[in-house]
This record gives sequence, structure tokens and C-alpha cells, in this order.
Amino acid sequence: MRPEQLYHSVCLTCHGPDGSGKMYARAAVRTIPDLTDAKWQAKRTDAELQHTILEGKERSSPEKSRPQPMVSQKVNLERAQIDVKDMVALHAGLQGREAGGNR
Ligand code: HEC
Repeated sequence: MRPEQLYHSVCLTCHGPDGSGKMYARAAVRTIPDLTDAKWQAKRTDAELQHTILEGKERSSPEKSRPQPMVSQKVNLERAQIDVKDMVALHAGLQGREAGGNR
């Protein structure tokens, strides 16, 4: 399976078709980051993203309401035989598509 396919079958539910999280998310799950936002991406290293994708992420800011953590995707990646690095690379691609003017 390719990273795009896994994204569409699993991650899309929470992160939206374009990674911005706008579809289902922000109203209900305010913690979902806009994965396409270059400013947000600049605050994260690849290693951090890999960690979150594999291990999930608990409420990182207690002061905000964090109704839903990011759930570990390790099993999904293993099942789909996708290297987490390729999954992270996909995020960079999402940014590329949106970035056009805002860089
Ligand atoms: C059940 C909903 C859900 C699914 C499914 C989901 N995510 Fe997330 N994801 C979240 C939430 C919520 C956060 C924000 C966590 C926080 O910071 O509190 C998040 C955060 C992230 C982050 C940001 C990590 C960071 O360091 O801030 C990345 C990258 C990410 N998800 C990638 C993925 C990928 C790739 C998949 C599919 C393999 C996926 N997510 C599936 C809900 C989901």
C-alpha cells in the first residue's frame, strides 16, 4: 500500500482530505493541526512527527481542551507495510500543494 492510500483509508477521517483538518475536525476536535500549514510544519521535526504517528500523542497542552489524542498508527503502518518516514514525507507533500503563495 502506498502512503497516500493509507492516508485516505485511515488518516483522512480525522485530518481531512487535504490534511488541513477542516472537514470534520476543528469544530469538534480543536486540537487537530493543519498539516498543510508551513508555519506549523516548521515547528516540528521529522523525528517528532514520526514519534507521534507511531506512538500517538496525548494531550500536549493541558490548558486547551483536548478532546481527542492522536491515536498510535503503528499497527496501521505495519499492516500496510509503510515506512513511517514515507508517511512524514507525505505531509511535506501536503504542504507543497497548499504552499503556493504562503512561503
Ligand atoms: C482518530 C483521529 C485521528 C486519526 C485516525 C489520525 N490522527 Fe493524526 N492527529 C489527531 C489529533 C487529535 C492530533 C493532535 C494531537 C495533539 O496535539 O493533541 C493529531 C496529530 C497528528 C500529527 C501532528 C503531530 C505533532 O507532533 O503535533 C501528525 C503528523 C498526524 N496526526 C499524522 C497522522 C497520520 C499520518 C495518520 C494516519 C496514519 C493520522 N494522523 C491519523 C487525530 C487523528
